[in-house]
Amino acid sequence: MASTRGEFSSRFGFVMAAAGSAVGLGNIWGFPTQAASNGGAAFLLVYLILAFTLAYPALMAELIIGRHAHANAVNALRLISTGPATHKIGTTVGVIGFIVAGMILSFYAIVAGWMISFCLASLAEFFGMQAVADWLTSFGMTRNLFFMLIFLVLTVGIISEGVREGIERWSARLMPLLLVSLILLVLYVCTLDGAMEGLKVYLLPDFERALSPKLIIAALGSAFFSLSLGVGTMLIYGSYISDEENLPVVGGLVTTVDIMIAVIAGFLVLPAMYVALHNGVEIFTASGALISEDTLIFTVLPELFATMGLAGIVVSFIFFFLMSIAALTSSISMLEVPVAYTIEEHGLSRKTAVYGIGCAIAVFSATILVNFETLFGLVIAFTTRYSQPILGFMFCVYAGWVWQRDKVLKEVQKGSPQVEHTLFWKIWPWYVKLVCPVVILAIFAQSLWGG
Ligand code: TRP
Repeated sequence: MASTRGEFSSRFGFVMAAAGSAVGLGNIWGFPTQAASNGGAAFLLVYLILAFTLAYPALMAELIIGRHAHANAVNALRLISTGPATHKIGTTVGVIGFIVAGMILSFYAIVAGWMISFCLASLAEFFGMQAVADWLTSFGMTRNLFFMLIFLVLTVGIISEGVREGIERWSARLMPLLLVSLILLVLYVCTLDGAMEGLKVYLLPDFERALSPKLIIAALGSAFFSLSLGVGTMLIYGSYISDEENLPVVGGLVTTVDIMIAVIAGFLVLPAMYVALHNGVEIFTASGALISEDTLIFTVLPELFATMGLAGIVVSFIFFFLMSIAALTSSISMLEVPVAYTIEEHGLSRKTAVYGIGCAIAVFSATILVNFETLFGLVIAFTTRYSQPILGFMFCVYAGWVWQRDKVLKEVQKGSPQVEHTLFWKIWPWYVKLVCPVVILAIFAQSLWGG
C-alpha cells in the first residue's frame, strides 16, 4: 500500500515538513506576547511542561494512527474501528476534520496574503514607490483578494507536486531559511536602544500569574493550535512516514523545534516592541496589556520599521518574508488533508483534486473577505475554539479506547523494537486514554464558558 502513496524520504524531510506545519503565524504573533503578558519565564516553563506532557501525547496519537493506516483520516479511523458504531463515528470525525482544515486554510490564506503584500511593500518603499507601498499596506478589497489568491496559488503549486517533490522539498528548503532569517533579526533587533527592556519583560518570571488555572488552559489551547492538532494534519503526515522510523523520537523532535522557534520568536518580538516604545510607538492596549496578534504585526511593527529609516525597510522585508514562509509551510499541511482524502476515497488524480479543492477554498476565502466584519472572526472561532478541541478529543479516544492496546504497541514497535521498556510506553497509553481527553474537554469548557 505504501508504495503507491507518497512517503517522506528521510527523517530530516519529515521533521522539516511536520515542524513546518507546526511553526506558523501562531508561533510568532501569538506566543511571545502571551508569554510576556502572563508571567514571562514562568509562563515559558508552564508552556514547555504542557507541550511535552499533553500536546506531545496528542501529537503521537495522530502520528501513530496515521502511520498504521498509511491512509487519510477517514480511512484510518475506519481501519481501527471495532464495530459499525465506531466505523460511522470515525468516518464523521474524518470528514468534519477535512472540512475544518479547509476552513482554517481559508482564513489563514487571507492573513498570509497580507504578509506577502507587506513584504512587497518594503520592496516598493526601497525603490521609492510610495504610492504602491501605501496601496499594499492599506486594507482594501482588491488587495485582499489578490494576495489571498497569490498565496493559495503558491500553496496549490506545492501540494500538486506531491509528498516528496512538493511538501518535503519545499519544507526542507524553507524551514532552514526561516530559522536563519529569524536569528539574523533577533541579533539585529537586540542591539537597538530599548531592546533590553523588552528582554526583561519577556524573561522575568512571575509565577503567580503563570500558575492561574485559566491561563494554563489558555496556554494548552495555544499549544494545540501550534502543533496543528485536531484536524488530521499530523495524522496525514504520519501516514507518509516509513515503517522503519522511530515515532516517539520524531514526534519529540517536531515538538522541540516548534517550541524552540516560538521561544526564539519571543527574543525578536518583545525587544522589537520595546524598541518601538523607545521610539514613541504605542505598544499597550487601553487596558494596559501588550498589543498582540494582527494589530501587533500590521500596525505596531510597521510603525517601528518606519522610525528606523533604511534599516527599517530591510528589517521589514526580512520580517514579512519570514512570516510568509512560516504561513506557507503551514498552509500546505492544511491543504493536504482534504486532498489526500479526495485522492484516496474518490480515486481522483492529485492534480485534479488539488485544483478542485484549491478553487473551492478560494471561493470560500473570497466569501469571507466580502463579508469580512461578520465572517472572519466567526470562522476563526468556529474552527480553532470549537472544532479543533472536539476533534482532538476524538483522535485521543480512538487511540486510547477504540484501538486495542496491543495493536497500538505493535505499530509503535515497528520502528522502535525496544519501546515496550521505555518511559514513553509506560506513560503514553494512560495519557492518551485519560489525561488528554479530560484536559481537552476542560479547554473546551473554558472556551465555551470562560469567555
Ligand atoms: N500550527 C500552525 C500555526 O501555528 C497552524 C496550522 C497548521 C494548523 N496546520 C494546522 C492549525 C492544522 C490547526 C490545524 O500557525
